[in-house]
Amino acid sequence: MKVLVLGSGAREHAITLSFSKSRSITGLFVAPGNAGTDEIAENLSDIDPCDSKMVIDACSKYNIDFVFVGPEAPLSLGIVDDLKKAGIHAIGPHKAAAMLESSKAFSKDFMIRNSIPTAEAVEVSSPEEFKKIINSKKGKTVIKKSGLAAGKGVLESDDRAKLLDFGLDILRTDKLLIEEYLTGWEVTIFTLSDGKDYIILPSCADFKKAYDNDEGPNTGGMGAICPVPSLTSQMLEEIKKTIIEPTFKGIEKEGLNYKGVLYFGLMITEQGPKLLEYNVRFGDPETQALMPLILSDFGELCSSIIKGRIKTFPLKISSDAAICVVIAAGGYPGEYEKGIPVDYIPHFNEKYVVVYHAATKFDDQNRVITWGGRCFSVVGLGSDIITANKNAYVAADEIYFKNSFYRHDIGRKFFERGKS
Ligand code: AMP
Ligand code: GLY
Repeated sequence: MKVLVLGSGAREHAITLSFSKSRSITGLFVAPGNAGTDEIAENLSDIDPCDSKMVIDACSKYNIDFVFVGPEAPLSLGIVDDLKKAGIHAIGPHKAAAMLESSKAFSKDFMIRNSIPTAEAVEVSSPEEFKKIINSKKGKTVIKKSGLAAGKGVLESDDRAKLLDFGLDILRTDKLLIEEYLTGWEVTIFTLSDGKDYIILPSCADFKKAYDNDEGPNTGGMGAICPVPSLTSQMLEEIKKTIIEPTFKGIEKEGLNYKGVLYFGLMITEQGPKLLEYNVRFGDPETQALMPLILSDFGELCSSIIKGRIKTFPLKISSDAAICVVIAAGGYPGEYEKGIPVDYIPHFNEKYVVVYHAATKFDDQNRVITWGGRCFSVVGLGSDIITANKNAYVAADEIYFKNSFYRHDIGRKFFERGKS
């Protein structure tokens, strides 16, 4: 099978690396890819993953059997619908189902009509109504942009002036949700669905704040762990019963015919698990921690999704722990410099450390340069979370470029306190 992966992040590098090890993949292409995917696949660097025509033309040219869509933007624009019309298989939901992520207003309504536990929320599109509600609030409140925002469309705060600024800015172009602030600990569950059945992958947790001790602004994610030690099998059963099952029942009832990855972002509260959000694709950076632990042939796994045979797929998962540390450009998630040369990227033994590139490129002197805010994901592996953490940080210390930074505490709260 020939596969085309869409995207250029570390998530797509991780997906591509897994495909490169598959016995059933005979051709591997990435559009646009990065300097890391260039080593293991053919980068189609001129192709915009959001441009269906370009993607479909590339599929014909290279005889692609299926497309794996990494990021949310092409999904929300309907790339899967367009590929289907052209007779090309895809891993990813069609446009109507992608609204579970691309519209927080739609996904909140979906949760409510399917009785899925979630934070209470009101949808607002008028600045006057918004000001009135915020001015009446006491304590912490959450504001969420309804449309896509690359992980930067949420503010949790008790500072009314900040909430007003943030919300009024969103209302210039979009609607928003004002949401009840939930407390607890967060976990991410990925499921793979073939349109009829689904399977659950190991749990992950990401670290969304920019700086150590969960300080600073929200980012796309500065690190991740897999699996989450504090998630007991009993809690997973509860999540399945109250959130995952009702979601897939709702998907079936509403005819959303979901083929691909469905991400459940959960808060485990004192009242039980509540759903914060759906994403309609793998998470970044969670995928970088998850992928090295999937021992089954990833090409075969995707083929079972396409063929509607996920239920009987023999999924094999490593017993190792994985910790991913993101190396970011100085200034991220605000303004940052692009095009910084990365002088040296050491090679590590893949049993202990995997390094994924994110949006890196080659310059005209064939040097690797940064081309985004999150530049590398370094994953440490080990038989337990402490060893994985140690391996991740030995490697993170060795990858350096001007003004680069990373968090020093990824995963630590899970082994220092034994919980969250
Ligand atoms: P979302 O994009 O909806 O997952 O929100 C991003 C992050 O904001 C989540 O991972 C949480 O850390 C935080 N967050 C979102 N909604 C809430 C909420 N209702 N209560 C507390 N924190 C939240
Ligand atoms: N790490 C969160 C996301 O991918 O949206």
